[in-house]
Amino acid sequence: MDKEKLVIWGCGGMGREIRYLCEELGREVVGFLDERPEECGQIVDGIPVLVDLGDMDLRQQEIAVVCAGVGDPALKRKFVQKTREYGMRLAGPLIHPSVRLPPGSRLGIGAIVCAGSVISINVRIEDFVIINTNVTVAHDTSIAAYATISPGVNISGNVSVGEGVFIGTGSAIREKVSIGGWSVIGGGSFVKDDVPKCMLYAGVPAVMKKPILGNLKP
Ligand SMILES: CC(C)(COP(=O)(O)OP(=O)(O)OC[C@H]1O[C@@H](n2cnc3c(N)ncnc32)[C@H](O)[C@@H]1OP(=O)(O)O)[C@@H](O)C(=O)NCCC(=O)NCCS
Repeated sequence: MDKEKLVIWGCGGMGREIRYLCEELGREVVGFLDERPEECGQIVDGIPVLVDLGDMDLRQQEIAVVCAGVGDPALKRKFVQKTREYGMRLAGPLIHPSVRLPPGSRLGIGAIVCAGSVISINVRIEDFVIINTNVTVAHDTSIAAYATISPGVNISGNVSVGEGVFIGTGSAIREKVSIGGWSVIGGGSFVKDDVPKCMLYAGVPAVMKKPILGNLKP
């Protein structure tokens, strides 16, 4: 099944980067999926944009769906639900050829690991997590489903990143810290204390800025 064709949810920056990752992996992408009406029928980087899974009868073909083509964790979760409702196959993990996954570290279905990232020993990365470019994840850390780790983030050892957490570009997380589900860490932050769920923390050191409401809330 490794060579099944792929469609990617989201034709924005993240989705396009994943399409390029697929090219580097020798995987064929036959379409983007995007709910925004203005995107329907467009050609993005040479690939047609379909409005929804029902747009084309994909079920009859050897096609799997990449749901982590957007950085927003709540959107990823929505796309996974829609894909399952349509009875479509979910794509397996996509790992850039430059990345080595040490023995004992695990990657869930639909997870993405981009170029230049370094995953250490006994790391657990769950389903639909995005590890963007040049991220480091140290020993014994776990990252729960739907989390998005932006470029240049450094996560120390024994850290627990909750479901649906978004960590902004260039942040650093101290060892043994726990970040509660659906919280957001602003770009360039240093997180030295535990973060409760559904909160925005930011700054150096990171402090609570506000509760997370709206679409990031589970
Ligand atoms: C956190 C973030 C998403 C903004 O979220 P938001 O809900 O729009 O937050 P707001 O702009 O309302 O900011 C709330 C408070 O947090 C502060 N804040 C937000 N981001 C911050 C950051 N990165 N560092 C320090 N403070 C920050 C704001 O100054 C504001 O403070 P105030 O209440 O004292 O005025 C955004 O600032 C951020 O850091 N984005 C990172 C994006 C990224 O890494 N993308 C990767 C793409 S590949």
